[in-house]
Amino acid sequence: MAESNEQDAAQHRAEAPVEIRVEDLRRSFDKHRVLQGVDLTIRRGEIVAIVGPSGCGKTVFVDHIIGLLTPDSGRILVANHDAPGAPLVDLTTLDEDGLDAVRKHWAVVFQRNALFSGTVYDNVALWLREIAGLSEQAIEPIVRESVGSVGLDYDEVARKDRDDLSGGMAKRVAIARAVAMNPNVIFYDEPTTGLDPQSSVTIHDLIGATHHRPLRNGSARTSIVITHDKDLLARIEPRIVMLNEGRVYFDGPYREFQRSDSELIKPYLALMPVLHQRRVLED
Ligand SMILES: Nc1ncnc2c1ncn2[C@@H]1O[C@H](COP(=O)(O)OP(=O)(O)OP(=O)(O)O)[C@@H](O)[C@H]1O
Ligand SMILES: [Mg+2]
Repeated sequence: MAESNEQDAAQHRAEAPVEIRVEDLRRSFDKHRVLQGVDLTIRRGEIVAIVGPSGCGKTVFVDHIIGLLTPDSGRILVANHDAPGAPLVDLTTLDEDGLDAVRKHWAVVFQRNALFSGTVYDNVALWLREIAGLSEQAIEPIVRESVGSVGLDYDEVARKDRDDLSGGMAKRVAIARAVAMNPNVIFYDEPTTGLDPQSSVTIHDLIGATHHRPLRNGSARTSIVITHDKDLLARIEPRIVMLNEGRVYFDGPYREFQRSDSELIKPYLALMPVLHQRRVLED
């Protein structure tokens, strides 16, 4: 079964349309060369984990994909779901309006959740109000459904204030807010950092379930997760992309990664729990 899952995934990779293609991405900060030629193609429907030692450039890499940073050189092509047929566009050539059109179809679940002060309802409704411009009548059922999809009782939590949520609940609300946007692509930045083990398990399941939940138009979702959480990898069995020294060092299925004999991967795997834990202490 596992083997056939891997074969299915490989088949899928070969055939699905390209969602994101990064070509020879380079970026330095002063003399520090962080990205030194990253090449990566992510296809629609894939679930991809970006891993690698602390400081290897995972966050810098993803910040380029979501348009928060601009490269020194290289190209970042992304599917523009705002146009028929979702053609690839070069992010670096888009103006603010063009970027907004692309980003409208993406959601980012930030490490610190980025919930603003207010109720759960307001947090999940914000984007639908401000960006999608929906009426309150149209928004309510979407909020209800999204909150339900992360395993929370709408009637119990909708009017709760952000400040009254536990870490695990806040993370679920952040995911509900992402789900409400019906995004083609979801990015998660260290989604289980700082959570207790029980909440982490819930979030592992939720990331898997959200990935497999089709969009409202039936299209497949693409999920990209930055993490040091080994248990999360074991749960979602993603395609693993490991960065090292500014390049893609490993790119393949989770099972292959996990049983690798590489002199870089083995110690990294052993260190993952420490890295994951350390992030909790830093917070
Ligand atoms: N704005 C910036 N200015 C200068 N250096 C930066 C900037 N952002 C990142 N860096 C440097 O780039 C390198 C990669 O940082 P990045 O945050 O991408 O690492 P990471 O792989 O996400 O690590 P971690 O697992 O600890 O989150 C680090 O050495 C960092 O100090
Ligand atoms: Mg990081």
